[in-house]
Amino acid sequence: MSKLSKKEIAAIFDGTEFRGAGHVIIDLLAEYLEKNLQGQGNVLDWQAPQDAIKHWQKPLPIQPTLTPKAFIKALGDDVLAHTLHIHHPRNLGHQVAPPLPVAALCDLIAALTNQAMAVYETGPSATMLERQVLQWMGELIGWKSSASVLTSGGAQANLTALLAARQTHAGWDVWQQGVSTGMPLRILASEHSHYSVSRAAGIMGLGTDAVIKVAADSQGRMDVAALQTAYQQCLAQDTNPLAAVATAGCTPTGSIDPLFEIGTFCRENQLWLHVDGAHGASALLSSTHKSKLAGIELADSVVWDGHKLLHMPATVSAVLFREPQNSYAAFAQEASYLFQGNSEESESYNTSYRTLECTKRMMGLKLWAAFSLYGVEKLGGLVDQVFATASLLAQKLADAPDFELLMQPQTNIVCFRYGVGDQAEIRNKLVESGAFHLTQVQLGDQLWLRTTIMNPLTAESDLDALLEKIRAS
Ligand SMILES: Cc1ncc(COP(=O)(O)O)c(C=O)c1O
Repeated sequence: MSKLSKKEIAAIFDGTEFRGAGHVIIDLLAEYLEKNLQGQGNVLDWQAPQDAIKHWQKPLPIQPTLTPKAFIKALGDDVLAHTLHIHHPRNLGHQVAPPLPVAALCDLIAALTNQAMAVYETGPSATMLERQVLQWMGELIGWKSSASVLTSGGAQANLTALLAARQTHAGWDVWQQGVSTGMPLRILASEHSHYSVSRAAGIMGLGTDAVIKVAADSQGRMDVAALQTAYQQCLAQDTNPLAAVATAGCTPTGSIDPLFEIGTFCRENQLWLHVDGAHGASALLSSTHKSKLAGIELADSVVWDGHKLLHMPATVSAVLFREPQNSYAAFAQEASYLFQGNSEESESYNTSYRTLECTKRMMGLKLWAAFSLYGVEKLGGLVDQVFATASLLAQKLADAPDFELLMQPQTNIVCFRYGVGDQAEIRNKLVESGAFHLTQVQLGDQLWLRTTIMNPLTAESDLDALLEKIRAS
């Protein structure tokens, strides 16, 4: 017998309760959003984790410890107050989007409806939304027909694409026989490629040493001559270079590798080209900046994060395959309780053939809503705005004698140094003051301050204030 009465169970799921709490929570969030967009208060009320944990550690609640009212209060006082305020115009740290409010509402719908999505019947509309947005994204790349999948995060998306590259280009069935059957496999990637590429090689059993790091030029872009040399060296060492990974918007500096040249080289040498566009593929939305990605259509696979410059809440990442059949190459398993041996066409609606995830979120809805409500033009306009703000910041830094600009930004990431002091100390002071959030990056033997302009509402006055605050630090 259940310890709960029917009445108690019904109260937990009560729709009226949900409606009431929902109104209050939306009011709370709307206020939070407005306050942050206006730049009121700090970006972050810094608390060292060792201090913060003291507030959160409580005994396991066997009985309820909060009334619904106290829960709402805790949301405001404890949760929201101690978030990094992502919509604040002085939040210039990581490549994380200030999400579109409507997309956040879509995530609420995704959460309540909880469509498992493994197979079509566990998320019929969710499956259709996903297919539609992937079709649109493929068209933006320049592909008429592609087959793709949404997954949770760029790291997992890169792994998925590289698994497909391994299966199609190794020369034997690696999925079934393992990696040791043939020649050692290699992946060629820029020295600035995201760490998830090396991590993928580790997970795939190739070993992280299998990622051959190709030198970048002074602008942070992969050096194509160095790629050719690295490829020849792989052959000379009796190893099998199966893929090149180009990055469109690398993490340290936002630089975009020369995709057309790399793509041409890959075509000539039967290499799989994977473009990690987690950060920069959203430039495809912009009529001003899409030419920076010329050649992306030559890729075999592209990763494109929604929760970066598409202004989505985390997580939603697209793994796009130019050849539809390659979308099945990463994973291959029998699961008779899910996949029932139907026709290829109807099986293609079962998304978990293509992902590591079995259950996943209804991720397509928020993208579908954004494309439908704002169109490519307005979403591209947001990209234009943050790129323009990054250029303006770069200009100010270049003009200031006491600052050193690393390079003109190709996207929305700007790296710089102030004076000759300890840059890490400058950053720590700034972050702990709560005035700004920014990051740092080690390039060669120097540490650089790093800003990512993600918020289209970051204004020139915020940039001026940043320089002043650093000078005063
Ligand atoms: C170029 C690039 N690729 C992949 C990733 C990983 O993406 P995610 O954080 O969504 O897993 C990042 C993250 O910043 C990135 O910058």
